[in-house]
Amino acid sequence: MPKEEVNNLALRRALFFPSAEIYANAPSGFWEFGPIGHAIRRRIIEAWRKELVEKEGMIEISGAQILPEDVFKASGHLENFNDPIVQCKKCHSLARADKLIADKIDDIVPESLATNELDAMIKDHQVSCPKCKGKDFDKVKKFNMMMGLAIGATGDQPAYLRPETCQSIFLDFKRLYKNWRGDLPLGIAQAGKSFRNEIAPRNTLLRQREFGQMEIELFFDPERIDEVPAFDSVSDYELNLMLVNSGKVQKISCKDAASKKIVSGKFIAYYIACVQQFYNKLGVPLEKMRFRGLDKDEKAFYAKETWDFEIETDLGWIELMACNYRTDHDLKGHAEQSKQDLSVNENGRKFIPHVFELSAGIDRTLYTLLDLSFRKEKRGKEERNYLKLPPRVAPFLCAVFPLVKKDGLLEKAKEIYKSLIDYGFDVFFDEKGSIGKRYARVDEVGIPFAVTVDYDTMEDGTVTLRSRDSMEQKRVKVEELSGLLWDLKSAQKSF
Ligand code: GLY
Repeated sequence: MPKEEVNNLALRRALFFPSAEIYANAPSGFWEFGPIGHAIRRRIIEAWRKELVEKEGMIEISGAQILPEDVFKASGHLENFNDPIVQCKKCHSLARADKLIADKIDDIVPESLATNELDAMIKDHQVSCPKCKGKDFDKVKKFNMMMGLAIGATGDQPAYLRPETCQSIFLDFKRLYKNWRGDLPLGIAQAGKSFRNEIAPRNTLLRQREFGQMEIELFFDPERIDEVPAFDSVSDYELNLMLVNSGKVQKISCKDAASKKIVSGKFIAYYIACVQQFYNKLGVPLEKMRFRGLDKDEKAFYAKETWDFEIETDLGWIELMACNYRTDHDLKGHAEQSKQDLSVNENGRKFIPHVFELSAGIDRTLYTLLDLSFRKEKRGKEERNYLKLPPRVAPFLCAVFPLVKKDGLLEKAKEIYKSLIDYGFDVFFDEKGSIGKRYARVDEVGIPFAVTVDYDTMEDGTVTLRSRDSMEQKRVKVEELSGLLWDLKSAQKSF
């Protein structure tokens, strides 16, 4: 849906809105999630946890958001986590040099280009300042995006808010490896907040200074990169791969991707397939997905191979997940800085495990699902908007409404509402306004089913069950409601 529709819906129904918005001078790039936005966000994390973390036998942790300076010396972030910035000489506004040029030439400009190369491109393409249209800029400089702070009363312990959740996974690896299973491969996951001092936050949830990540670090023996017991299950499964600088998506089976060395090995192909299948289950059509291979100028400083998982939206292709082959970069860095041995002893060898990373943006996933699921529909004279979210990422599975509040209907509806919660469903209750308005309100935020308690309920113990997508209604016995909702949720039955 057009970005205006996403933003209007977000503000109208408080899905997300600017943080500290009552203060005119609040910095940009920070967002709040209201009840519906927060619920969808939670569902996305739950789906990720079930489909990737639990089904693939990984473990999940929750690490600290503030970490000491040494961690980021070792990881390379203090030296390398920079964006190129440029200042307009006329109005003094700052902008990201790579983005300014990219907007002008409508192409990707690697942020890692040398500052003098970016200076030259600004001149050659006659880039102008987005604020005052001036064409005179200072020289491009590198700006470090880490958000620093000082710990303790004396403030003599420098520290940083984490710019990615995964650093604590690397710090905790040895302990978890020893006391969990003691062998590779080992997948460790974490969902949480990260922080980056973005120069120009934009497009609401797509470029924030505080944002949600769901990250998975897969530790493996690099000499066994082609030994994946479950590989047969994806061997013929086709990946939407856009090879470096090819400009087009090709469907390539996991088997071919690994054997032709399009990816570094079966281990990489297997997990890329898991990602594609996961987003497909969240309702994203395959033709709207691609894994874009990054050129050496575009990759992060820690990555040997990167496939950016992107989804096509009204705003163009949006990166939702970076799939990075980080090799032993992080464990080696932390071993040297901390003087601890982070190697393992397996297969008769002592070595530092390699890491393949699946780093997803939670808020970007939320934004993308809103964009893809928005529907505007006209039936006769009536027009309605609804979100066609799959039940597993809908904010609530169903709503319960009493037709009216009198004659015991309110109490009966509350009883059914509570019993559905006891069954483990996420349920929304609304008693205000006409029934038509209540249906419209839940359609707009993507609640797939609505249960209405009316006078017949009091007589024959049945309720009306309504589908968001078809607007069809059927009578269902109260005692059969939970079973039916379960089947609808797990797609074992359609409405
Ligand atoms: N951990 C990878 C990233 O944050 O992009």
